[in-house]
Amino acid sequence: MSIRETRAWQALETHYHQEMKDVHLRELINEEGRFDIFAQRAAGIMLDMSKQRMRPSTLDGLMALAEERNMSGAIEQLFSGGQVNVTEGRPALHTALRLPESSELHVNEQDVVSDVHATLGRMEVLVSRVHAGQWRGATGKPITDVINLGVGGSDLGPLMVSQSLDAFAPDDVHHVNVHFASTIDGSQLADLLPDVNPETTLFILSSKSFGTIDTLSNAETAMEWLKFWLKGCSEGFIKHQHFIGVSTKPEKMSEWGIHADNQLLFWDWVGGRYSLWSGIGLPIALHIGMDNFRRLLAGAHEMDEHFRTAPLKENLPVLFGLAGIWNVNFLNIRSLAVLPYDGRLKHMPGYFQQLEMESNGKSVTSDNQPVDYSTCPVIWGEIGPNGQHAFYQLLHQGTQPVACDFIVPIERYDYIEDEGLRRDLKAQHRLSLSNCFAQSRVLMLGDDAVEGGNADAPPYKRYRGNQPSSTLLIEQLTPETLGALIALYEHKVFVQGTIWDVDSFDQWGVELGKEIANATEEIIRTGKGVESLDTSSRHLIETVWQQTRE
Ligand code: F6P
Repeated sequence: MSIRETRAWQALETHYHQEMKDVHLRELINEEGRFDIFAQRAAGIMLDMSKQRMRPSTLDGLMALAEERNMSGAIEQLFSGGQVNVTEGRPALHTALRLPESSELHVNEQDVVSDVHATLGRMEVLVSRVHAGQWRGATGKPITDVINLGVGGSDLGPLMVSQSLDAFAPDDVHHVNVHFASTIDGSQLADLLPDVNPETTLFILSSKSFGTIDTLSNAETAMEWLKFWLKGCSEGFIKHQHFIGVSTKPEKMSEWGIHADNQLLFWDWVGGRYSLWSGIGLPIALHIGMDNFRRLLAGAHEMDEHFRTAPLKENLPVLFGLAGIWNVNFLNIRSLAVLPYDGRLKHMPGYFQQLEMESNGKSVTSDNQPVDYSTCPVIWGEIGPNGQHAFYQLLHQGTQPVACDFIVPIERYDYIEDEGLRRDLKAQHRLSLSNCFAQSRVLMLGDDAVEGGNADAPPYKRYRGNQPSSTLLIEQLTPETLGALIALYEHKVFVQGTIWDVDSFDQWGVELGKEIANATEEIIRTGKGVESLDTSSRHLIETVWQQTRE
């Protein structure tokens, strides 16, 4: 039976048509006790959903829907290692990656927590060798630069966290610069390589499958570059001194030439987009230090515990997820902008985009039936204040509704210190907070945000408002709160996947494109089979040939 046929869903539809359809946020916001009901805190984060277009009765209806889908049972399944990844027949145990060492969790009679902590211990050894200047390149010099070669989950998470927590990089260790190259065309590597020293550069090959062509082709380019500069060193020795591999496939790493000592393993029960907590987080640990990496895990674990134990009505991921369901399925808002008001979080929208869209961009239920309702919205975003000068025009006056997540830390670093200069940044931080709160207010109230109203203005100066948003107010951006924030989004995705009855942990939709890309590469290279293609693809290829053969 489709979820749409359930009593809870139908009650929500009735509630929408009878009570909510024509209500403007400017009316809702003044309802008594609203903030107390719609704002909840956990793990250093306050989630304020009082600017969502909901009433307490809406929340009751959504809670009934969650119960209909046995949300508590689903959460229990997730944490205990149930086969929540149905199509691949395995658990999704990213939460196990942040369990304290003293816990136990058995999957197939194996305690995964001891495996996780053994790997963390190996990671720590690698990090401390690099940070002590003991990891040497092939000519005996200490490493100065690390380049992570990975894509998707093997790039976006480590990149986002490293950038966000840059201020936590330790200054009492041998310093290494951490870089990221993901693009299949080699352009990022081409930009990076001239600026680093082959004798002192270490590459991390990050790939869950160790079969991703984007990453492997960058690895080949990196190896060519090293061989060119390190003439006289054998290939095996170069690989030993300059490559670490992180994957679930030890045999493939060995085949490529990654020395067994340089392999960090993780497990097929960790999804790629949920993997920054595993060895895939090595670039993070190299950048901010192992202690701070463990703090990140601890923050995520705190959110895990909240998600696992808090009553559904006070449970941040549950509330956050259900608000998204209301927006997508009842208010018909299928676009979600992620808007961090902190320059350090610039890679966050891209990271959440993969997390949500690859997880819940699905249209088949767990028993293989096509869905008859919308699932994941389009997720996009940008640093909020920069977006204000670029696309907020559409948020305020465009023709399509967009829901927004405002993400903003209260306290930040307070000054820039450079030699003799000490510039206080408190005033700029206040500006950032003010802009964040102003935007969510104008999106909510429209013309009514102006004292005395704006009704006399010409149409092109009018603001309709009524655009829902959530604000995530973070006490301070630390490894713990960032860990908790990421875990909050991960669990929100799970909550929504549970309601929509989709498998949030597979990604079959990316496979066909890979297959066809391989076949297309062969056609471009050999010319064979071009006539069998559609006219557009054929002409595109022929145009490439014409230009490149001249
Ligand atoms: O093609 C999609 C995908 O499989 C993502 O799910 C994953 O994060 C990314 O590619 C990279 O995969 P891998 O870590 O196996 O190289």
